[in-house]
Amino acid sequence: MANNAGTLEIRQLNKQYEVEGAPLQVLRDINLRIEPGEFVSIVGTSGCGKSTLLRLIVGLEQDYQGEVLLDGRRVVGTSLDRGIVFQEHRLFPWLTVQDNIALGLLNSDLTEGQKRQAVREHIALVGLKGFESAWPHQLSGGMAQRVAIARALVNRPEILLLDEPFGALDAITRAHLQQELQRIWQAEGITTILVTHDVEEAVFLGDKVVVMEPRPGRVRRIVPVPLAHPRERASSEFARVKQEVLAQFGAREEALLAEPA
Ligand SMILES: Nc1ncnc2c1ncn2[C@@H]1O[C@H](COP(=O)(O)OP(=O)(O)O)[C@@H](O)[C@H]1O
Ligand SMILES: [Mg+2]
Repeated sequence: MANNAGTLEIRQLNKQYEVEGAPLQVLRDINLRIEPGEFVSIVGTSGCGKSTLLRLIVGLEQDYQGEVLLDGRRVVGTSLDRGIVFQEHRLFPWLTVQDNIALGLLNSDLTEGQKRQAVREHIALVGLKGFESAWPHQLSGGMAQRVAIARALVNRPEILLLDEPFGALDAITRAHLQQELQRIWQAEGITTILVTHDVEEAVFLGDKVVVMEPRPGRVRRIVPVPLAHPRERASSEFARVKQEVLAQFGAREEALLAEPA
């Protein structure tokens, strides 16, 4: 990965959808700058435009106003520079773990030998050594998300985007994968954006937490997390930052946050 790669700049981003003939403003005046190697969490209730924002960053949609710049260049279409992981793992059931991960290298210039090497390294990175030839149906939900993360990273993208990746997992698996994601992020030094409705997850992982509000989706506040990694959930400092983020939500909104997506 090139030095200093992965600066993301979003300027005056606005997005509308057409719903039953009328325009629906989904994102309004989003401004966000993310430094190379930074981990940013985005938290907000369902419907405030988090997934839409990620889709614009990954280049899945191009109909918007404003600018999305990666390393100073406008994002146009999807690219191997941007890896994304969704809540559902989206693995192909007819491909083994290693072949699912190798899909991330489909358009890569690497030789066959280099591709095999990259797949091996990323299986090790996500802690799945020994499961190279397993089928998706043989994996737990947490293991399947590890495969999805390996597939997103195998091409060494400049930025990793995660859309509620642990939302469907049980609490213990989720806590474990949060730790794993932190380890992987520290090992790879990759710019990462995590969308979540779990405030604790957002604070545990993020260098800053972007709090969004709905109708239309806007940035309400950006809360810095001035804590060294890895974080200690039981520390009073951790509780203080978590409280600061929660304070951005009203009681009704806080209840909505707790609901599954
Ligand atoms: N393709 C689409 N067409 C019309 N409206 C959409 C479309 N995708 C999302 N929306 C609307 O945009 C808003 C934000 O959606 P989304 O980005 O999925 O929010 P979040 O991920 O925060 O739950 C919602 O009101 C949703 O109904
Ligand atoms: Mg969403």
